Amino acid sequence: MATTLDVNGERRSSPAAPETPLLYVLRNDLELNAAKYGCGFGQCGACTVLVDGAPVRSCTTPVAAVAGRKIVTLEGLGTLAKPGVLQQAFIDEQAAQCGYCVAGMMMSAQALLARNPDPSATQIRTALAGNLCRCGTHNRIVRAVQRAAKGART
Ligand code: FES
Ligand code: FES
Repeated sequence: MATTLDVNGERRSSPAAPETPLLYVLRNDLELNAAKYGCGFGQCGACTVLVDGAPVRSCTTPVAAVAGRKIVTLEGLGTLAKPGVLQQAFIDEQAAQCGYCVAGMMMSAQALLARNPDPSATQIRTALAGNLCRCGTHNRIVRAVQRAAKGART
């Protein structure tokens, strides 16, 4: 039986088995490829998406567990032609090297900014501590989140 999902404000349907990880459904069925497969067991954060506003590891979340809940992926924050505030801030700060971690970083940052519009650098680091970046781009990422927070306030 198909699972009905609310993704980026749209009703979407997936034929995947209920225990299929949400990440596979997003990438394979819905062609939403921003969330990445890193470790596959909830340790790296590359697959992070928002579910009802909270960051969730989509690699370990069965699709049936999020049926009817509000899922937001990086694609829901803006478009290439019209990036969202956070996306633009990452571009402006050049906050990526390989970029593999960035979608997950941005989704965790988005959840932080929703609950704390003016976070300190320490609060940003704490919020993103579960998102690993093997390229060592952390300082730029923190600056990008600070820039987005400032941009959203002005
Ligand atoms: S791929 Fe999901 S946490 Fe690493
Ligand atoms: S930019 Fe390469 S893993 Fe973060």
